[in-house]
Amino acid sequence: MPIEMIDVRFRYSSQGPAVLDGVTLTIPDGQMIALVGPSGSGKTTLLQIIGGILKPSDGMVRCDTPVGRMRWIFQTPILLARQTVRQNIDIAISTAPWNARTREARVGEMLADVGLDGYADHRVNTLSGGQQQRVQIARALACRPPVVLADEPTGQLDHATTTLVMNAIAKARDHGTTMVLVTHDEYVASYCERVVRLEDGRIHSVKDGDARRMDDCDMVVGASDE
Ligand SMILES: Nc1ncnc2c1ncn2[C@@H]1O[C@H](COP(=O)(O)OP(=O)(O)OP(=O)(O)O)[C@@H](O)[C@H]1O
Ligand SMILES: [Mg+2]
Repeated sequence: MPIEMIDVRFRYSSQGPAVLDGVTLTIPDGQMIALVGPSGSGKTTLLQIIGGILKPSDGMVRCDTPVGRMRWIFQTPILLARQTVRQNIDIAISTAPWNARTREARVGEMLADVGLDGYADHRVNTLSGGQQQRVQIARALACRPPVVLADEPTGQLDHATTTLVMNAIAKARDHGTTMVLVTHDEYVASYCERVVRLEDGRIHSVKDGDARRMDDCDMVVGASDE
């Protein structure tokens, strides 16, 4: 069930400029793709079109995954601030066909993956911005969703934590999740099999490369500007 976009155009208002100006792109199942490009080039708009938040003004988007099954990672986490970390993740997996013990184990696994071992019973509003971001990532990945849409998921994180989080995201991809990541960070893009660069609402370049596998080295692969 690939995500397919054909000649997608978008204007925020009928008189306004074309924010997306003929984007044609297919994202195969289980691919991890980075959307990069200058500020204002249309990355967030394109992500919102994929996720059904915006409808294209023209062109076609085809995706068999219902938008309700897609999971979002926003730049600013949206969490239940007064609830604990465990409650925030548990709600996200409450509809999964897992018993209580499996759910508990899954919460623990996700927290370990994002470096938050021991934080399950902390209230979200007592955590730092970067810790909250990691809760949001753990929550988005916990139910093994078919598609994750992430808008600058590592914007608040240091390099070591970014590596940890990208390894967690790559692990989800290895389990079959299609990941679409908007990022300004070449290191993050280097984890992706494909890097799509937008400029002025059009695809400027598409780079297919060897995605970085789970590791902690500093080599950057396949993410340079053209
Ligand atoms: N709600 C809106 N109403 C009108 N114009 C908008 C709206 N949101 C975004 N735009 C315009 O659409 C263009 C693309 O915005 P978008 O947010 O998609 O860019 P971006 O590539 O995600 O940028 P950044 O890297 O800064 O997040 C910009 O020119 C922006 O001003
Ligand atoms: Mg944006």
